[in-house]
Amino acid sequence: MNEPKPLLMALGGKTVDPPPLWLMRQAGRYLPEYRVLRQKAGGFLDLCLTPELAAEVTLQPVRRFGFDGAILFSDILVIAAALGRALSFRDGDGPSLSPLTTAYDLALTPDPAVLAPVYEALRLIRATLPATTTLLGFAGGPWTVAAYLVDGSGRTQFAEARRWATERSDELEQVVTRVADATAAHLAAQLDAGAEAVQIFDSWAGLLAPAAFRRFVLRPTRRMMAVLKARHPQAPVIGFPRNAGTLYGEYFTATGVDALGLDQTVGLAQARELQRQGPVQGNLDPVTLVAGGAALDRAVAAILDALRGRPFVFNLGHGILPETPLAHVERLVRLVRGGA
Ligand code: CP3
Repeated sequence: MNEPKPLLMALGGKTVDPPPLWLMRQAGRYLPEYRVLRQKAGGFLDLCLTPELAAEVTLQPVRRFGFDGAILFSDILVIAAALGRALSFRDGDGPSLSPLTTAYDLALTPDPAVLAPVYEALRLIRATLPATTTLLGFAGGPWTVAAYLVDGSGRTQFAEARRWATERSDELEQVVTRVADATAAHLAAQLDAGAEAVQIFDSWAGLLAPAAFRRFVLRPTRRMMAVLKARHPQAPVIGFPRNAGTLYGEYFTATGVDALGLDQTVGLAQARELQRQGPVQGNLDPVTLVAGGAALDRAVAAILDALRGRPFVFNLGHGILPETPLAHVERLVRLVRGGA
């Protein structure tokens, strides 16, 4: 019989103690072994789109820290490349795309040749994953990906995408819908290739006023959930509408995601409230992990006190920062697992 996987159990609504643990962006520049491979690969996208390298980078943090989840090494913007947009990553500068001028600049369906290496990486990872580690796939939320497509980068705080949300809202809806359909297919293909659960990173969900949030976050996410639940009814989906504030509860109900990722601005009383609706994941401030010391110990204890004993996955409230000391991550693992 297969061994139970703690992360998969918690995402399925079971209480697991100690809670399973993984970190958003757990593969990356804070790891010396990542920096070595990144140097060798040349570009960040080469790393993402070479299956053997993507698989190796995915497994690095799992080997070092024994996390309960292995998250595919890729990026939320590979779907933009698959939809025909030229994508580049310049060092220290984040992603660049040529800005969309109309919704018709986007291909109707993703180019399978662009995404094939992603699925191959998942097959490689699944074949060598430790028996109790859960393999996570992911994609960006349709609004967040649309925001990068329309602005071309994150440098302008998505001013143009926000302008479309009010002045060209029908066109934005078309963009978001195309991205949602492509993303649903991409996530389903990740599950076909060996991912056991998936996370939707809607990192910029918190920029939208409630009516726009409903139209550009909730509706397309529900549309993706219909596809995912038809094709993979058993696979848990984690929704992460970062900085959604008081709209988190509505997101949980309206989209039908199985588990809810919380950023660090969500207070623990609100987190407990949300936990009545289903499993929650989060929400240590990544800056506290950089700080370490007594501040880290206190913050971790507060989260565990509030959220353990019900379905819960320990994580950060956003991605780990490149300046995070390895010793602080080791300490976090001991604190969560109860051996500190
Ligand atoms: O979690 C993981 O370890 C899996 C890998 C992963 C990456 N990006 C690798 C990456 C995941 C899950 C992402 C998601 C992602 N990508 C998001 C959503 C999460 C979030 O942070 O809000 C967003 C908005 C992106 C787009 C993106 N990719 C940006 C804005 C940047 C530049 C910022 C940065 O950290 O450099 C990237 C580049 C990127 N994606 C890196 C990594 C490891 C750094 C590239 C490098 O090695 O130089």
